[in-house]
Amino acid sequence: MKKVAFITGAGGYIGGETAVTLAKSGICVAVCDISEDAVQRTVDRIVEAGGIAKGYVADVTDSQSVDKVINCAAEDFGRLDMMIHVAGGSARIAGGKYVPLVEQEDYVIDRVLKVNLYGAFYASRAAARIMIRQGDGGKIINFSSAVGINGLKNCTDYAAAKGGVMSLTKALAKELGPYKINVNSVAPGVVMRPEEDGGSDRALKTNLLGEKCTAQDIADLVAFLVSDKAKFITGQTYVIDGGRTLSMKGTD
Ligand SMILES: NC(=O)c1ccc[n+]([C@@H]2O[C@H](COP(=O)([O-])OP(=O)(O)OC[C@H]3O[C@@H](n4cnc5c(N)ncnc54)[C@H](O)[C@@H]3O)[C@@H](O)[C@H]2O)c1
Repeated sequence: MKKVAFITGAGGYIGGETAVTLAKSGICVAVCDISEDAVQRTVDRIVEAGGIAKGYVADVTDSQSVDKVINCAAEDFGRLDMMIHVAGGSARIAGGKYVPLVEQEDYVIDRVLKVNLYGAFYASRAAARIMIRQGDGGKIINFSSAVGINGLKNCTDYAAAKGGVMSLTKALAKELGPYKINVNSVAPGVVMRPEEDGGSDRALKTNLLGEKCTAQDIADLVAFLVSDKAKFITGQTYVIDGGRTLSMKGTD
């Protein structure tokens, strides 16, 4: 029987690459994003690559919508084996500014915490309910960030949300261990987009290896964590940042 993964933020850079990578390995992918166009683009990429995918539009800050699409996907595909909450981002996703906390506005703090952290709660809860009912385990992965470990000025909302994801991971792994559900999180450093090629050198300077991290690097880590090879790994945050978090100065 084919395995089924539900991925939020699957219309984005890292989520899209993760969705395509899992689909290429034979996993059926429920592609979820707030943007209908972005959902369609990823579904098309998967179908072109010979994979199986179906699109779902939802705002992860709305728990009822999250319940609805995750239940719907499990029904459409007949089961649910993996939930990967990739949707997230810093002040930009709220249309806000990167400013010190003393200048930050309520709507930015609210949105950033809700998409990154509440989204992880809602999607993990909906997926866990189904996985517990199925009775044969599962994998839950939420996205954290190197910023959640070291902090970053003008990004307190994002840092706190991503730190929360790491704590959620540990506590939820304890709750779901008896059901053989592995709960982990992934904490990237700076992931370079193709359009940044030759432009910003920030992605090269913020790691010890002097290499660019791509969405494929992150997708490969997720593919490992949802595989049977990672069956004894739970409650962990996997940092994938080329050593950025070792810097004495913090994230930069
Ligand atoms: N890109 C990086 O350098 C980097 C570094 C560390 C962590 N991360 C984390 O990785 C994840 C993916 O980042 P990315 O660079 O691919 O970002 P991205 O902006 O390309 O993708 C994020 C996706 O989430 C979707 N989204 C936003 N709000 C949503 C909502 N309320 N409901 C549902 N979907 C929503 C967006 O439409 C978008 O498609 C995020 O959680 C981000 O915080 C990224």
